[in-house]
Amino acid sequence: MSEEALPFGEKYYPSLEEYKNLYARSVEDIESFWDERARELVWIKHWDQVLDESQPPFYRWFKGGVTNINLNALDRWIGTPYENKVAYHWEGEPGDRRTITYSELYREVNRFAWALREIVGVKPGDTVTIYLPMIPELPISMLAVTRIGGIHSVVFSGFSAWALADRILDARAKVLITADGFYRRGRVVELKKEADTALRIVAEKGFKVEKVVVVRRAGVDISWSEGINMWYHDLVKEAPEKAYVKPEPRKSDDVLFILYTSGTTGKPKGIMHSVGGYMTYVYNVFKWNWDPKPEDVFWTAADIGWITGHTYIVYGPLMHGETQIMYEGAPDYPKPDRIWAMIEKYGVTVFYTSPTLLRLLRKYGDNWVESHDLSSLRLLGTVGEPINPEVWRWYYTKVGGGKAPIVDTWWQTETGAAMISPAPGLALVPLKPGSATLPLPGIVADVLTADGRPAKPGEKGLLVVRRPWPGMLMGIWGDPDRYVKTYWSRFSRPEEGVWIYYPADYALRDEDGYFWLLGRADEVINVAGHRIGTIELEDAILAHPAVSEAAVVGGPDPVKGEVPVAFVVLREGYEPTPKLEEEVREVVRRLVGPIAVPSRIIFVEKLPKTRSGKIMRRIMIALLKGGEIGDTSTLEDPSAVEAVKKALAQS
Ligand code: PRX
Repeated sequence: MSEEALPFGEKYYPSLEEYKNLYARSVEDIESFWDERARELVWIKHWDQVLDESQPPFYRWFKGGVTNINLNALDRWIGTPYENKVAYHWEGEPGDRRTITYSELYREVNRFAWALREIVGVKPGDTVTIYLPMIPELPISMLAVTRIGGIHSVVFSGFSAWALADRILDARAKVLITADGFYRRGRVVELKKEADTALRIVAEKGFKVEKVVVVRRAGVDISWSEGINMWYHDLVKEAPEKAYVKPEPRKSDDVLFILYTSGTTGKPKGIMHSVGGYMTYVYNVFKWNWDPKPEDVFWTAADIGWITGHTYIVYGPLMHGETQIMYEGAPDYPKPDRIWAMIEKYGVTVFYTSPTLLRLLRKYGDNWVESHDLSSLRLLGTVGEPINPEVWRWYYTKVGGGKAPIVDTWWQTETGAAMISPAPGLALVPLKPGSATLPLPGIVADVLTADGRPAKPGEKGLLVVRRPWPGMLMGIWGDPDRYVKTYWSRFSRPEEGVWIYYPADYALRDEDGYFWLLGRADEVINVAGHRIGTIELEDAILAHPAVSEAAVVGGPDPVKGEVPVAFVVLREGYEPTPKLEEEVREVVRRLVGPIAVPSRIIFVEKLPKTRSGKIMRRIMIALLKGGEIGDTSTLEDPSAVEAVKKALAQS
C-alpha cells in the first residue's frame, strides 16, 4: 500500500490541503451544505426541511420539496443552445447508428409519456418494469415513466425469465416494457421470448401484467397476445406530433425508481431511490467526478440495467447536458478493439468502466489499444470492484497516455452515486493506484474493526458511513425490516441515538487518510463488477432434482475478479457426470441468468459445516485460493475438509 502518490496536483487544482479544507467545511453542517447544493436544481416547490431525521434510519431529504427529475434532465435544455446538442450517439453492435439531440429526446419522451398515460394507463405511483437492452428506448422509457410520476424498475436484459418474474412480482408491476430482441456477439438474443416465459410464471402465481409494450429492435418473429402486447412505435405514432406532457409534480420523498440488487438471502432487494435526494446527489457528484465541459463526449461503458447506468448514462449526464456514447453490444466484438475504435471515432473525452472490462481488453495485448488515437481522453474512471495496481497503471499509461487522471469511484446501488472517489471537478487530490482516495464532500466515511472500534491507519476493517447523504436509498421495497437489519444493525446503537450505515465492504485507511477497498464482507460475490448473492445461486442449484446440498463461493479469476464456484452434494443414487454438471449450469442459467453460471462445479461427498449445521464457506474459499483454512474448532466433521480437498484435486 505504500504506493508513491502520482503528481496530478499542479494540473487541475490547488492542493490536497485545499481539498481537505473544503471537505471539512462540507461535513461541519451537512444540512446547510446540501441545502445550497440542491438550490442549483429546478424545483416546483422548495423544501421546508433539508433532512428529516425523526425516524432513523428512514431519513428523508428535502421534506416538503416538489419536483420532477425531467425538469432537470430534459426540460431545462429546451429553448437553450443545448437543444440541438447531441444527447446520445448510439451505436448498435452490427454498426448501425442513431444520433439523438436533446430536443429529439425531449420530443420522444413526451410522446411516449403521453402514450403511457393516455393509452397504456400508467398512473402516478404505478410501477413499470423495463426489460430492455442498450437501445435509446431504454433511457426514453425511464424518463417517460418518471415524467408521468411512475416508478421504474429496470431489469438487466441479461437476467433470465425467472429472475425477471421475481422482480415483476415483487414490484407488482402491471406494465412491462421490453423488446423483440437485440444483438450480442453477432447473434440475436430473443428477449421477448424470455419476457413471455416470465409472464407465464407470473400468471401461475396469480399476478397479471396488464400491458406489455414491445420495442422492435432485431426484427425477429415474436409471439403476440392481442390486447396485451402493444408495439412501442405504434404507441408513439398515436401521440400528437408535438405532445407535451407536463412533468408530474412529485414529492421529494416519493420513490423515483426501484432497482433490484442481490443480498444474502435468495430474494433480491428492491432498492428504492427518492425523487429529490437522488436527483440532488447525482447532479452534484457527477459534477465533482467528471468536471463536465460543454464539448465533452462522455462514455460510461456499462449497462443501464445496473445502477452505474442509471446514474452515469441516464440521469447524471443528462442533468449536465452531456453528449454521450451508448453502445448496444459486446465490448470485444467483432474485434478486441471495438471500444478503442469508438473512443477514437467519436473523440471521447471521459471514459468510465469496470476493472473487469479493462482486464479483458488488456489481455488481448497492447497492439489493439496502441493502434488507435485516444488523445481526446481527459479523464478515466473505474467502478464496481477494486482495481489492481497493474491494471490501473496500464489504464493510465496505455489508454490515457499518462495525462488522464483515473477516477476510481467506490459506491453501491444503495448509495445512488459515488461516495469515495477523486473529485477533479473540485480539486483533484494526488492519486494512488488501487485506492478510491477520499470521501466526497458531505460523506462521513470511516473504517471500524469487527468490534466497532475505529481502525488504526493501515488496519483492515469494515467500511461505514456515519451521516446520511441525499443519494442514500429510502429503503427496501415492501420490506422495511430488512432495510434496518441489512444496513443499520451491524454497528448502530439505537438506544444512544447512533445510526451507522453498513455497506458490507472491507476497507482500510492509510496514513494519508486514503481509503483502500478490500472486497465484500458478506455472502455476496462480485462477478465482473456485478453483485451476485451466493444464496440465490445455491437456491437455483437446489432446484435440480439430483442435488441435495450446494455451497457457492467466489473463486479467483484473472479477468472477472471473482467467479462463482459451486460445491455440490448429490442425492443418493446419483453419480457425478459431465452431463449432470452441464444440467446444473443450465439450471442456474435458466433461473438466474448467464452472468451467474458457475465456472466450476465440484461434486463433493459432504460439505464442511459447523455443529449447528451452517456451511463453512470460508474453508472452501481457503482451499480454492490455496490459503490457510484457519480455525476449525467449530467444524462438525473434520473429514469433510478432506472430502473437499479430494474433490478439488480431482476436478
Ligand atoms: O463491494 C463494493 C464494490 O461493488 C459493491 C457495490 O455493487 P453494486 O451495488 O452492484 O454497484 C456497483 C456499481 C456502483 C460495493 O459494495 N465496489 C464498487 N465500486 C468499487 C467497489 N470495490 C472497490 N472499488 C470500487 N471502486
